[in-house]
Amino acid sequence: MREAVPEVEEQGFIALLDRVYQTGEPFIGRDTPIRLARHGSDELEERTLDFVYQPMREADGSVSGIIALGIDVTEAKRAEKVLLQTEKLAAVGRLASSIAHEINNPLESVTNLIYLAKGSAINAETKEYLGSAEIELRRVAAITNQTLRFHRQSTAPQLTGAPSLVDSTLAIYQGRLSNTGVTVLRRDRAEQSIYCFEGEIRQVMSNLIGNAIDAMHGTGGKLIVRTREATLWSVGKRGVLVTVADTGHGMSNDTASRVFEPFFTTKGMNGTGLGLWVSEDIVKRHHGRLKLRTSRISNRSGTVFTMFLPFDAIIQRAQVLE
Ligand SMILES: Nc1ncnc2c1ncn2[C@@H]1O[C@H](COP(=O)(O)OP(=O)(O)O)[C@@H](O)[C@H]1O
Ligand SMILES: [Mg+2]
Repeated sequence: MREAVPEVEEQGFIALLDRVYQTGEPFIGRDTPIRLARHGSDELEERTLDFVYQPMREADGSVSGIIALGIDVTEAKRAEKVLLQTEKLAAVGRLASSIAHEINNPLESVTNLIYLAKGSAINAETKEYLGSAEIELRRVAAITNQTLRFHRQSTAPQLTGAPSLVDSTLAIYQGRLSNTGVTVLRRDRAEQSIYCFEGEIRQVMSNLIGNAIDAMHGTGGKLIVRTREATLWSVGKRGVLVTVADTGHGMSNDTASRVFEPFFTTKGMNGTGLGLWVSEDIVKRHHGRLKLRTSRISNRSGTVFTMFLPFDAIIQRAQVLE
C-alpha cells in the first residue's frame, strides 16, 4: 500500500492498517475524505471513499493479512449534495420572489413621492438632489427586478431584438462600469428578433456581465458584448449568438468545470453561486446553448461566454409543453 499509494500514509491510512493487524478487528470507513495523486501528477485530488479493512486469520487465530477494499463514492456524494442544494434553492427562490414583491410596492410609492416633490420644489438645488435620488431609486428598482424576480415566470413571451436587451442590461451596470474604469466594446449584427421571455434573457445577460465586471475587479479592462445571427449546426437551427467577453483573471480548470453547479462560487460571502446555474437553466428552457472558454495565460487572460438562442425559442417550448 505504501508503494502503490504513498500519498495516503500521512493521511493515517497506513496507521489504520497497523491497528487492524494488532487488534484483529475489521475497520469500516464511510464517506472518508482522501487525497489521491491521480493522472500521474503530484497534485492531490480530493475524493470520497467507502472502504473496508478485513483481517484474514490463520487456523490458530493469528492475523496473516488484510483484505482492503475501497469504493470511490465521490460522484454519488456530489450528486447527493446537489440534490440537497436544489431543494434549498427552490425555497430561496420562493423567498426571493416574495421579497421582491414586498420591496416593489414601497419602492413605487417612494418613486411617485419623489416625482411629486420634484414638481413642487422651489429651490433648484433641492430639485437636483431629488433628480439624483430618482436615478438611484431607478437602479434599485432595476436590481430587484433583475435579481430577485427570476423565480417568477414572465407572463408572456415577446418578440425582442437582442441588441435592445443588451442595451437595457448594460444600463443597469453603467455606474459600476464607469466606477471600475471598464471600457465597453459593442458590436451588433443581429437584426432579426427572437421570440423569448425577455426578462429571463435579460437576467442571463445581467449575470454574464456582472461576472465579467467582477473578474476584472477594478483594474480597468475591456468588456466586449456582441450580437450576431448564427446557425447552431448540431441541430441546424438559426438564431442569435450573444457573446460576453472580458479581459479579467480567467478561471482554473477546476473552476471552469464547476461554474454551472448551484452554489459554486469563488467569491466567498460576495457570491451566491447561483448566477450561472440559473442562466444555464433559462437558456436550456429556450432551447439554446450557453458555453464558455477561458484562459489564465498572463497578458491575455479572460473569459468568453456565448449564448445561442434560436429565433423560435419559445414556440418550441410551447410544442414541448403540449
Ligand atoms: N467572467 C468570468 N471570469 C472569471 N470567473 C468567472 C466568470 N464568470 C463566472 N466565473 C466564476 O464562476 C463562479 C460562479 O459564477 P456565478 O454562478 O455567477 O456565481 P457568483 O457570481 O455568485 O460567484 C464565480 O464565482 C467565478 O469563480
Ligand atoms: Mg455571478
